[in-house]
Amino acid sequence: MRRDYVNVAILWFVMTLAAEFSLPWIFQIIFPGVAAEEAAISDESFRLLTILATPVFTFVMSVLGYSLFSFRAKGGAPEYGAPIRGNSGWVWGMWLFITASLNVVVVIHPGLTGLAKFQGNKVPDLVVKVTAVQWAWRVSYPAQIIDGATEVVLPLNKRVKFEVTALPDDVLHSLWIPAFRQKIDAVPGLVTSMYVTPDKIGTFDQDFNLRMQCAELCGTGHTAMMMPVRVVSAEDFDKWVKDQAEPTDPVARGARLAKTQGCIACHSLDGAVGVGPSWKGLFGKQEALEDGSSVTVNDAYLLESIINPNAKLTKGFKPDIMLKDFGTKLKQDQIDALIAYIKTVK
Ligand code: CUA
Repeated sequence: MRRDYVNVAILWFVMTLAAEFSLPWIFQIIFPGVAAEEAAISDESFRLLTILATPVFTFVMSVLGYSLFSFRAKGGAPEYGAPIRGNSGWVWGMWLFITASLNVVVVIHPGLTGLAKFQGNKVPDLVVKVTAVQWAWRVSYPAQIIDGATEVVLPLNKRVKFEVTALPDDVLHSLWIPAFRQKIDAVPGLVTSMYVTPDKIGTFDQDFNLRMQCAELCGTGHTAMMMPVRVVSAEDFDKWVKDQAEPTDPVARGARLAKTQGCIACHSLDGAVGVGPSWKGLFGKQEALEDGSSVTVNDAYLLESIINPNAKLTKGFKPDIMLKDFGTKLKQDQIDALIAYIKTVK
């Protein structure tokens, strides 16, 4: 019996030594690409926990492995071993002490210390709003007046706050960016937040861990709920913002406004009949009106319809559906850009 204890102890020691020495090499293989300060905190915690858990794992494996080989049936009649009765206080006392202290240690560090570091600085340089819907991410930058971004572009070394929610009637989703090692649930009717400081320039094409991925099973489109993430220099970020908010070309600007102002939710671009008349081939057309008269769709008519939608109502469409505040909400040059764009929809 004593000999078995010594053998297991030797086996445990050798296995632990071998495992602990190969960990740095294993870590190199298993960690995905990193692109944020917080990712280092997360990876460091994972390393520490693995290093601490390894002796526990090898202890169980060495006792199990040794017993399997040493005490297997070797032919002959099976016989019972000597019964073990009673216990000595110091054995279970030590067991309780060691496991409890290990747990307390990891709850404090890296648990609480890591959490504090993650949430440390709550003054963001940039706020990105994300709304989850089945099955897409709607991304906007309120301060930059960017709505409906098609990718998540973030400036290097800036504190970013993600404000995350899901549409009121939607289901649970979860925002996860693997390269940042952080994940937060998107809950209908609730705004959750997540802070991140990207510290490496990169694109989704270079590293597929730079993506905003849904991490909560939310239906058939769950895996498709992905948006590329791009980390850029501060200058490139400013350039991107400029490109997004104010295209210089009026048609491009109008196309963008049509999207961000929600026009195309009611006015189709392909001739499909929606809540409002389609924009396809609209300009120059002879349009029948609700009052029995007709009108040629020109600049003046489009302008009037944008700022006073009820004035000349197209036959077959209801009044008071379209918002009446575009005349005050939009600047004159924005309305001009919209009209320039509508003319091009053929
Ligand atoms: Cu959204 Cu899974």
